Amino acid sequence: MVNNKKIVLETKNVVKEYKMDNLVVRALHGVSMAIHDGEFVAIIGPSGSGKSTLMHIIGCLDVPTSGEVFLDGHRVGKMQERSLAEIRNKKIGFVFQSFNLLSRTSALENVALPLLYNGTTEEDSQRLAQEALNKVGLGDRLNHHPNQLSGGQQQRVAIARALVTNPTIILGDEPTGNLDSKSGREVLEIFHSLHRQGKTIVLITHDAKVAEQADRSIWLQDGKITK
Ligand SMILES: Nc1ncnc2c1ncn2[C@@H]1O[C@H](COP(=O)(O)OP(=O)(O)OP(=O)(O)O)[C@@H](O)[C@H]1O
Ligand SMILES: [Mg+2]
Repeated sequence: MVNNKKIVLETKNVVKEYKMDNLVVRALHGVSMAIHDGEFVAIIGPSGSGKSTLMHIIGCLDVPTSGEVFLDGHRVGKMQERSLAEIRNKKIGFVFQSFNLLSRTSALENVALPLLYNGTTEEDSQRLAQEALNKVGLGDRLNHHPNQLSGGQQQRVAIARALVTNPTIILGDEPTGNLDSKSGREVLEIFHSLHRQGKTIVLITHDAKVAEQADRSIWLQDGKITK
């Protein structure tokens, strides 16, 4: 079914090396993969296998040492930093394990933040941020600061922030890793509902139970795809 859909994310023979003094750590050893529009894909593998490194590269937060990355058919490596930031903002929403919210800032302002960089008016930003918070069930927590929210609620604020620009792809790096099992299930249910609405979801996990819920899993070990 996915085969006739277009490819939204693709890597070809991606190698990533981190250079530290005179030591070279090779985190990815030639990773080639393709993700189609509307797919829900899990990237699974043990700690240190290169999952976060791969996510940073497919999310255009970092560049490969060699190999090619395509986002919506555009070759990423050939783009200038400005157009790269632009396409990243438009197409991709990120959710991290450690929420990454601004602590002295309300839920509403945290969610509105990505809109500050794309020219949305103040009024529209507030409205869109409120809509995004409603979608994750936090319409009654707009003025709470992160330390006044539970972990699961903080992660839902982070998901609202990822959604507010209406990206087509949502990348999650262990988004349930810091949550108790109930909050984890709620957060996963939000990812499922986004998938049903047509978003492409890429979820990094080391938990086989989480990966089972995806359409397909990509297994990473020692920086290589094993299946
Ligand atoms: N900035 C960095 N500098 C040097 N080495 C790094 C850097 N980031 C990651 N690495 C190394 O690259 C390898 C892959 O790391 P990565 O963070 O991608 O793993 P991971 O699969 O996300 O692990 P985890 O499940 O623990 O989050 C590891 O051996 C790690 O030590
Ligand atoms: Mg990681």
